[in-house]
Amino acid sequence: MKRTNIHPELVVVTGAGSGIGRAIALRFAAAGAHVVVSDLNRDSAAATEAMIHARGRRACAARLDVTDPSAWEAFARDVLADHGVPDVLVNNAGMLVSGAFVDLTPADWDRQLSVNLLGVVHGCRVFGQQMIDNGKRGHIVNIASAAAFTPTPVMSAYSVSKAGVKMLTECLRLEFGPKGIGVSAICPGVINTNIGEHAVTVGVDEELVARGKELTRRVQDAAAKLPFSPLSPDLVARAAQRAVRYDLAVVPVRAEAWLGYFLLRIAPGVNRRIAQPLDVERIERVGRRVLRLIDPTSSEPAGAQAISAPIEVSR
Ligand SMILES: NC(=O)c1ccc[n+]([C@@H]2O[C@H](COP(=O)([O-])OP(=O)(O)OC[C@H]3O[C@@H](n4cnc5c(N)ncnc54)[C@H](O)[C@@H]3O)[C@@H](O)[C@H]2O)c1
Repeated sequence: MKRTNIHPELVVVTGAGSGIGRAIALRFAAAGAHVVVSDLNRDSAAATEAMIHARGRRACAARLDVTDPSAWEAFARDVLADHGVPDVLVNNAGMLVSGAFVDLTPADWDRQLSVNLLGVVHGCRVFGQQMIDNGKRGHIVNIASAAAFTPTPVMSAYSVSKAGVKMLTECLRLEFGPKGIGVSAICPGVINTNIGEHAVTVGVDEELVARGKELTRRVQDAAAKLPFSPLSPDLVARAAQRAVRYDLAVVPVRAEAWLGYFLLRIAPGVNRRIAQPLDVERIERVGRRVLRLIDPTSSEPAGAQAISAPIEVSR
């Protein structure tokens, strides 16, 4: 692998107030970059900025809604005026809309694609233009997902958005590469972040979703106390740095992501069916069993009482 000669001095990260984006901001800052930490949530971006300052490194926080093209234009103008052209842009902001395809409304699709796919398109456009005009080497890192390789029944909108990010990345490599700008797609498997907490779950018993989120919080709190987590967002941050260092096209992170990446090539039929057992009813059934095992004294969620009873759903 050939090393690029990029030494990131200025790095812009979207969705950097939590999870993977925060870990990426911390890593690039630790390596000496000034990091522009942006997020939809200004307070969480400021918290990441404070963490970086507490480590004696450089950062500034900004609010950016990646779905808003004019906010991107204004943000890019401000970054240019205050700091110059970024060496690295990390399009990380994202969220998960899950549920059976027939339960997803046009608004659900609109939300999923405007954050996860169009948010990345807008970022590549405004900062790609700055990098091209600048004439220096630059790099864009897009956070896709293992869902870009493996079809999953209850995550059709999310999977489509991430497959789009991966394809966009591969198209842009051809357009931007000759201009000295690398573009990479990072495809993580399961990572311990707040993505479940922020997710929109359509057509599933609301009480079950709430209890599942509560259980996840408890597991995450326990995992945070371990010296090393196999689901750490820092795995993705390291992959992002590697992608910039070696101008990598597609970088799977964790075993399940590598499995999907290889199955897609060597056994596409198996890859197409591997997630088939996942459907909303099965997920609800397993979820209830897990919750009963953990907390046998607690009351059953509404949907578990009788098949014919109406189920409270998230919409
Ligand atoms: N956690 C995983 O298992 C996993 C796996 C593969 C890919 N990913 C991807 O990693 C990225 C980061 O997710 P995460 O797991 O750290 O989740 P997270 O919820 O912890 O962080 C996502 C951040 O994005 C921000 N955000 C959401 N909508 C936004 C918008 N419109 N504009 C700006 N910021 C917005 C949120 O405020 C939040 O701070 C996402 O693109 C996600 O799809 C996550």
